[in-house]
Amino acid sequence: NRPAYIFDLDGVLVDTAVFHYEAWKRLANELGFDFTVAQNEQLKGVSRVESLEKILAWGGVEKTDAEKLELAKKKNDWYLEMVAKMTASDLLPGVLAFLEQARAEGKKIALGSASKNAPLILDKTGIARFFDAIVDGNEVSLSKPNPEVFLCAARKLEVQPADCLVFEDAEAGVAAAIAGGMAVVGIGEEGALPDADALVANLGKLVK
Ligand code: BG6
Ligand code: MG
Repeated sequence: NRPAYIFDLDGVLVDTAVFHYEAWKRLANELGFDFTVAQNEQLKGVSRVESLEKILAWGGVEKTDAEKLELAKKKNDWYLEMVAKMTASDLLPGVLAFLEQARAEGKKIALGSASKNAPLILDKTGIARFFDAIVDGNEVSLSKPNPEVFLCAARKLEVQPADCLVFEDAEAGVAAAIAGGMAVVGIGEEGALPDADALVANLGKLVK
């Protein structure tokens, strides 16, 4: 029963993993190699540049820093074409009801995401109004499992880490919450995220 909630974005509030997958796959194919769903899984919670580094390594392709910047932009432009079509119907099950419940209970609410596109996605899906603080990839460059993104969110909410409950779908995100001294609810299928304090399939399961 903690006074503050910190939400990851991708995979917790919205299902953008498939958009990331489509865009990275298109880029990999252009570079002459394939990109699998299993590889996409490993990029959850990982920043855009670090994701690109991993993909290039998997494909055995070397690029200069300038080329990498261009490739990351290309991927993001494709990703944004998909994000542009997002609406509230792209929220994961129970998200709206759970955020409303948290508000009614007087929780302080923050976003703690690696995505630089987070503000746009909150806007497109109509849930920006629920957040007292937003920390995203524009502000924090240290990727999860580094706890910085969540610690920064706690600071903005003016609460202690021990007051925070984090909601995460990525292994690296769960590790980040624990490293930050926070409790964490995993969002995933049975057997996933063994280090989380609790596990649910989606936020709808927590609506009273
Ligand atoms: C995370 C996603 O939330 O954001 C990652 O899980 C993604 O897959 C990362 O790479 C960065 O996102 P963006 O929107 O800044 O490219
Ligand atoms: Mg996530």
